[in-house]
Amino acid sequence: MKIAFKTLTLQNFKSHRDLTVNFGELTQITGDNAKGKSSIPEAITFLLYGTDTLGSKTDPTPITYDSEETMVSLLFTVDEKQVLLGRALKKGKAQYYINEVPSKAKEFNEIVDQLFDKELFFSLFNPNYFFTLHWEKQRAMLLQYVTSPANKEVLKQLPEMQGNRLGELLKKHSLGDIEEINKEIKKKKDKAYIGAQSRTKTLQEQLEQLTDPKEDIDSLKAELAAIDIEVRELESELDKAWEKNQAYNNLQSQINYIQDRIEISKEQWPALKNEVIEDTCKTCKQPLDATSVEAVKADKEHRIAEYKSIHNGLLKERDELKKKLAETDFIDRTELQEKVKEVDAMGQPIREAIRIHSQYEGLKTQVRNAEADEKSTLQALNDAIFVLDSIKAFRTKEAELQGEKVQALFKTLSIKLFEELKNGEIKASFEIEMDCKGYRKLSLSEGIRAGLELREVLSKQSEVIAPVFIDNAESITSFKQPTGQLIISRVVAGQELKIEAVRNHEKSKASN
Ligand SMILES: Nc1ncnc2c1ncn2[C@@H]1O[C@H](COP(=O)(O)OP(=O)(O)O)[C@@H](O)[C@H]1O
Ligand SMILES: [Mg+2]
Repeated sequence: MKIAFKTLTLQNFKSHRDLTVNFGELTQITGDNAKGKSSIPEAITFLLYGTDTLGSKTDPTPITYDSEETMVSLLFTVDEKQVLLGRALKKGKAQYYINEVPSKAKEFNEIVDQLFDKELFFSLFNPNYFFTLHWEKQRAMLLQYVTSPANKEVLKQLPEMQGNRLGELLKKHSLGDIEEINKEIKKKKDKAYIGAQSRTKTLQEQLEQLTDPKEDIDSLKAELAAIDIEVRELESELDKAWEKNQAYNNLQSQINYIQDRIEISKEQWPALKNEVIEDTCKTCKQPLDATSVEAVKADKEHRIAEYKSIHNGLLKERDELKKKLAETDFIDRTELQEKVKEVDAMGQPIREAIRIHSQYEGLKTQVRNAEADEKSTLQALNDAIFVLDSIKAFRTKEAELQGEKVQALFKTLSIKLFEELKNGEIKASFEIEMDCKGYRKLSLSEGIRAGLELREVLSKQSEVIAPVFIDNAESITSFKQPTGQLIISRVVAGQELKIEAVRNHEKSKASN
């Protein structure tokens, strides 16, 4: 965009009752002090913004003479478009004109704002303006037109480990988010690490309280298993003995049973033996005949024989069982039971040793787990710290590259965009120096030259070409020809106000 001034007319503007300025590529304004040179650029900023050339509200109503109305109008071009704007002040009330049409303040301001950015216009027009801004604004303005270095570019210049790690993380999150996430992790892991350390310590102390059971757990277990087997074998022997004794007891109870029957049989014997053979009939009392008597006798004989046969049978059966019993073993189990108790008791100290052993091993495992936890917590903590350090390094490098990029735009000025804090963090700042001197330390001419260099960069970067007004140019012997229309004012003693528009090819001669 190119802004060029054509004609400025002033009526009753400060000391100027009526003045027309026709601008050329170079416009030279000369005259003695107080001839109204500085009022000319002020009329332009007053017209556009109602301010002086540094942006402060101004009232140019004449105070040394009476006037009806203060009027400023400027004919200028923005690229191919020609614009005529006017601002009047009548009894302190402003009036606006767009292409000679009276307009409202809002419309007028909208037109001006649409044409160009106010801060940029001031900075380009008045080389002193930029330095009056707050440093943050100066910085933002300069950076507005300089693209920041791409992440890839910065990552490439970091130490490989940091670059790779951040590169991966940046695929998912912004740098700010990565920082927030890892700050949070660091905070948590810091705390967790302290907890893990004290847990390990407590468990280690508990372990130290126990004596290391030196025995080999496997041989203890084998020993116990052997004892258990022996106990089981003894118990099965006990079972077998019980079964065997069961047969003995059976025989014994059979013998007892038969013996009882023998006793009963014995009791029957005397009655049978002493049975009287009657020779008279029991009912009719008649003497029995010999045959009958014989028959009774025979019956008795028969029954005796039968008795004897049964009785002897019982005796024989008993004796056989007794013989069998004599042949059957009876095992005394008490001894075996004592043995079981004894062997089982031998396992007791081993069982205790195994219990202590596994308690010790259990605690040892807990210590190992706690140590592993401590280690992994420390790793996570260190990783978060590594990422945070990488972010710091990234920011430093980014600032460095950004600084280099901006610095490359300047020839004599040195620009500092960042400062490093004591903790290594990078903070935005803004300092412009010329020959190692800050702007405030510069002389009038150095200040103008610094301002001109700066506006050149702004003009180039923003691609806006605008007029520049160098006031009090007599203080500066030479300067580089700026881009855009050049308006210079110089004090010439004893001379009335003189305004000369010079054509293009003569401009460079005048500025050198
Ligand atoms: N509101 C005003 N009314 C009338 N004269 C003014 C007003 N403001 C400033 N002046 C005077 O106008 C004259 C021109 O000022 P200026 O443009 O600064 O001159 P120069 O830059 O040539 O030295 C000075 O004498 C100044 O005092
Ligand atoms: Mg002046």
